[in-house]
Amino acid sequence: MKPIPGYIEELADRLTASGHLSDPRWRQVLHAVPRHLFAPSLAWVDGGEEPNRLVDRAADEGAWLRAVYADTSITTQFDDGATPLEAGGENYTSSLSAPGIVIAFLELLALNDHHRVLEIGTGTGWTAGLLAQRVGDHNVTSVEIDAALSAGAGENLKAAGRSPRLVVANGADGWPPGGPYDRVHVTCGVREVPYAWVEQTRPGGRIVFPWVPGFAFGHQTRLAVTSGGRAIGRFAGNAGYMMLRSQRFELYAPAVEEDGEQTTTRLDPRTVTGDSYGCDVALAALVPGLTSVEEDTSDGGVRLHLREPDGSWALADYTPGRDHFAVAQAGPRRLWTEVEAAYLRWVSWGSPDRERFGLTITPDGQTIWLHSPDNAINP
Ligand SMILES: C[S@@+](CC[C@H](N)C(=O)[O-])C[C@H]1O[C@@H](n2cnc3c(N)ncnc32)[C@H](O)[C@@H]1O
Repeated sequence: MKPIPGYIEELADRLTASGHLSDPRWRQVLHAVPRHLFAPSLAWVDGGEEPNRLVDRAADEGAWLRAVYADTSITTQFDDGATPLEAGGENYTSSLSAPGIVIAFLELLALNDHHRVLEIGTGTGWTAGLLAQRVGDHNVTSVEIDAALSAGAGENLKAAGRSPRLVVANGADGWPPGGPYDRVHVTCGVREVPYAWVEQTRPGGRIVFPWVPGFAFGHQTRLAVTSGGRAIGRFAGNAGYMMLRSQRFELYAPAVEEDGEQTTTRLDPRTVTGDSYGCDVALAALVPGLTSVEEDTSDGGVRLHLREPDGSWALADYTPGRDHFAVAQAGPRRLWTEVEAAYLRWVSWGSPDRERFGLTITPDGQTIWLHSPDNAINP
C-alpha cells in the first residue's frame, strides 16, 4: 500500500487529465482534506452500468483506498436511513459524490479567499471541508436535512481538522442567519430553484447547482444574482445528483402498458433522448414535468417510457428494421405528441447546443431561455 499523498496525487492527475481540475489551489485542498476521512468503512462504490459493489476496509484496506481515490461516488445512505448501510438497496439518498464532479462544481463557483459560502446537502461533509479549507471555516455554512448525516459529517470534518458551521434544516429555505452569501453551492439535484437562495445571495453573487429536470440527464448550472433580485445564468456541463428531498421524482419501474391510444410515428424514439444536451434542455423546458425511462427490449429494440405527474403516459417503440414506430399514449395529455413537436421545434431553431440556453429565477418562478434572457421558451 502506498502512502495516502500518493493516492491523492494520482487522483488529482486523473482529474486534471479529464478536464475537471485546472486550478492548482484545489489540488492543494485535495491533499489537505483527504477524501478517505469522509468514506465509510463499508463503501458501496458506484458500479456504473453494473450494480454497486461493496468494498470493506477491514477485509482489504488497499482495495478500499483505491476505491476511495477513484473518480466514483460512494453511496452512504439508502432509503433516508431506514435501510442499514450494510444491507444496501436501490434507493440512494446520500453519497460521497465523485471527485470529478465535486471539483468541477467547485471550479464553477469561482471562489475568492473572502467569499462566504452556503452549501446545501452536507452529506459526508467532504465538500464542506474542501470549501472550508479554501475560504476558512468561519466563511462556510452547510445545511443538511438529515440529522444523523449531519452528525456524521461533523465527526468526519473533525478528523480532517475542519469546523465549518453545520446546520440541520431544510436547505430549500437556505439559512438566513448565515447570509448574505457570496456563493450558494447546492450538492443535490434541483428541478425548480427556491427563491430563498436568490434572496440570500449578494448582488453579483453566484448560485451553482445540478439542474435535474427529470428528462434525460442533469446539467451543471451557474447563475449570477442581479441587483434587481433575479438570478440569471447558463448551463455548463453534465451532472447527475440525488434530488433535493422536496423535489424528488416519483420513482417508477418501466411498466408495460398496452391499452393506450395506438398510433405510429416516423420519428425514431431513440433520437429524442440521444441527440444532444441542447435537445435535452429544450425538451425539459417545452414539456415541463416530463420524466423518461428507456428500456432495452428482447428483440433488440428500445422502448421509451414517458410520464407526467398528472398521470399521462406514453410508450414509443423503436423496433429494428421498421420505418414506422408504434406509439401508445393515454391520460390528460398526449405526451409523445408533445415530445415529438418539441423535438422538431428544437430542430427548427437550428439544433442549438446546451451552451445556447439559460435559466432565469424571479419571485414568480423559473424561465428557460434560448440565446438571451428575453427569449423565454418554456410555457
Ligand atoms: C449527494 S449528497 C451530498 C454530498 C456531499 N456534499 C458530500 O460532499 O459528501 C446529497 C445530500 O443532500 C441532502 N439533502 C436532500 N434534500 C435536502 C434538503 N432539502 N436540505 C438539505 N439537505 C438535503 C441529502 O440528505 C444528502 O445528504
